[in-house]
Amino acid sequence: MRHRTLKIDSMIETRFESVAPGNPDPQVISEAAEILRKGGLVAFPTETVYGLGADALNEEAVKKVFIAKGRPQENPLIVHIADRDQLIDLADEIPEKGLHLSKEFWPGPLTLVVRKTFLIPDVVTGGMDTVAIRMPDHPVALALIREFNGGIVGPSANLSGKPSPTTAMHVLEDLRGRIDMVLNAGPVEIGIESTVVDVTVDPPLILRPGGLHKESLEDIVGPVSLAATKEQRKRSPGSVHRHYAPRARVMLVPGGDSAVLGRLLAELRQQGKAVACIVHSREMARVETGSLFRVLPAPIDFYARYLFRTFRELDQEGVDVILVEEVAEQGLGMAVMDRLRKASEATNETS
Ligand code: TXA
Ligand code: MG
Repeated sequence: MRHRTLKIDSMIETRFESVAPGNPDPQVISEAAEILRKGGLVAFPTETVYGLGADALNEEAVKKVFIAKGRPQENPLIVHIADRDQLIDLADEIPEKGLHLSKEFWPGPLTLVVRKTFLIPDVVTGGMDTVAIRMPDHPVALALIREFNGGIVGPSANLSGKPSPTTAMHVLEDLRGRIDMVLNAGPVEIGIESTVVDVTVDPPLILRPGGLHKESLEDIVGPVSLAATKEQRKRSPGSVHRHYAPRARVMLVPGGDSAVLGRLLAELRQQGKAVACIVHSREMARVETGSLFRVLPAPIDFYARYLFRTFRELDQEGVDVILVEEVAEQGLGMAVMDRLRKASEATNETS
């Protein structure tokens, strides 16, 4: 499938500003908001990953986001808000279950897909009649949105197809010269993107598993389904594009299966490949040591927090293949497995 992607035509200077995560300098926030008002691009931290901000109601500014990321124009963006009141301008109607979820989990790693109002330009939604909205749980993001006084789009601040940035340095690696400013507030907390839930249907449908667990959603609104069929996945265009992939080929190894890990390592090395591993279980941790053998802390929150970062680091080591230990598909593990599968599909497609 071919996607329409516009090319960047000139480089600009990217300002890098460090702020205290819990208490950002109002002067810096005010300058960042001014850049947004003028139609510029500012990368900002959220609790999930760093986002690339632009004025959601300024068509030209939103177009620049697609260009800077090299993102296919069909893939719609999330609008970030700081106050529930902002919903009135953006959403046409919010079903009861959507309201419950927003009251319970905002600010937090939950994105709601609702019917949009005419105010939102088509570039934001890829021409769809719905819009994705989220209130991030990060003082810097909230301060920026409040100071700007409007909704800002916020795709992950990476080049399209690369792992999402969990530090401001990752943003610079990908977008230096393409955006106006990066607000650095250190590493993010969750490390994996928000859960995207379509509440225009009942039961609500998870289009992308993420930082908020399915189980937590169900505690509030009862059964929730997970987009499984191709038709359902098409409702979230982002999930059918190449995604979350390091440059190296990613191969998955069943959790705890050190025999398979050992066999794959031997085979690949015999073929002359530079192989790295990302594991977490005790069984797997015993297989090897060394800088290309990364043992992430076992609790799933840590695995999620360090996964994208480890992909990027291993890419810089120039490895050919990354063998990754699978995790149990529950809680945050559902989102982690979703990203791992996409990374392995994407890298196998292109290799
Ligand atoms: O945690 C996050 O959600 C981060 C931070 C920065 O907020 N943002 C993020 O945005 O991950 P992005 O653009 O990388 O992913 C947005 C996802 C895509 O899969 C996109 O297809 C889907 O949300 N999406 C956006 N608008 C949609 C809509 N109207 N209907 C269905 N899916 C939509
Ligand atoms: Mg993304």
